[in-house]
Amino acid sequence: MFRSKITGAGHYVPEKIVTNADLEKLMDTSDEWIRERTGIEERRFFSPEEKGSTAKMAFRASKIAMERAQINADDLDAIVFATLSSDLYFPGSGALLQDMLGMDTKPAIDLRAQCSGFIYALSVADQFIKTGMYKKILVVGSETQHIALDLTTRGRNMGVLFGDGAGAVVLETCEDPNKGILSTHLHTQGKHAEVLCMQEPGSNGKEHIIYEGMHEMYEKISPQMDGQFVFKNAIRRMPEVVMEALQANNLGVEDIDMLLPHQANLRISQMVQRMLKLPDSKIYNNIQKYGNTTSATIPIMLSELWEQGRIKEDQLFALTAFGSGFTWASALIRW
Ligand code: ACO
Repeated sequence: MFRSKITGAGHYVPEKIVTNADLEKLMDTSDEWIRERTGIEERRFFSPEEKGSTAKMAFRASKIAMERAQINADDLDAIVFATLSSDLYFPGSGALLQDMLGMDTKPAIDLRAQCSGFIYALSVADQFIKTGMYKKILVVGSETQHIALDLTTRGRNMGVLFGDGAGAVVLETCEDPNKGILSTHLHTQGKHAEVLCMQEPGSNGKEHIIYEGMHEMYEKISPQMDGQFVFKNAIRRMPEVVMEALQANNLGVEDIDMLLPHQANLRISQMVQRMLKLPDSKIYNNIQKYGNTTSATIPIMLSELWEQGRIKEDQLFALTAFGSGFTWASALIRW
């Protein structure tokens, strides 16, 4: 069986910075509340002039990832694209990106696992490479979140958390049996699906997707969350799934060189760090700048570390995420 390894990472975030002070003008909130509870200082929303989209941001991130991997789109065998904010209701943004990259008839798979989306996508791509079916896969996480947020006081518990952005990595066959993705671990618990969800547009038991009165039903057409319940589950599941990965590889917490936790809330990352007893030097957080970019978060972190030259040969990275579904996941990578 083959192994897969990441050979390039790239990211793109919109130029428009939305600070906590900007949100104070739209709703009853404060910079102090947002920083204290979440660690977020600012996030990016693309502006109407930028004419951005989930697939367009993904295209920019993918070009950088391919440049760093020193490959062209022609070299790719497939795309695995994670998003909860597809450009169209259907088809998925993967098909749009496939066209933008001029990939003729190569396959694009769209994947919906929300904040765990990138690790799920990485896992799917890893299986294709392990079996030898494909050799080079573009793995993408991209999100346009601001358009679905209720940026009034009514929606403030979610409105302050999210941002737009995209990240991508190139995954290739790895000759060295000790390097690359060591394992991935995925979990879903659908009984909590409605604790963190957006109901519309959905197909659930209705005669037509657009129905009279829909516009008044704001709670269905903007995301909803029981924040404290999600928080409690996130701080339990993220360390648990990291331990699952370490045990599967006969490794210990002391072997981790860098933990990349999904960025939903800095307080969650700090608690996960404390539970795993990792020093500050072994964890990377960037929620302060971007908010929660859902499936884009982990590839954005990988790309930033790549740019900063902080990914070194033989280092062990642990990736972990928790989100809507509920879904949670981990991956261990030896560089
Ligand atoms: N500004 C000011 N006050 C606010 C805001 C805001 N933006 N939002 C809520 N409040 C108020 C509430 O109304 C409440 O007021 P009350 O006490 O008068 O009723 C008070 O602040 C406390 O509200 P809580 O919801 O209890 O606040 P909490 O401390 O739980 O923090 C938060 C909320 C930050 C959302 C937290 O629960 C959290 O991070 N949860 C997990 C998020 C997460 O992990 N999401 C998963 C990924 S997302 C995905 O998969 C798509």
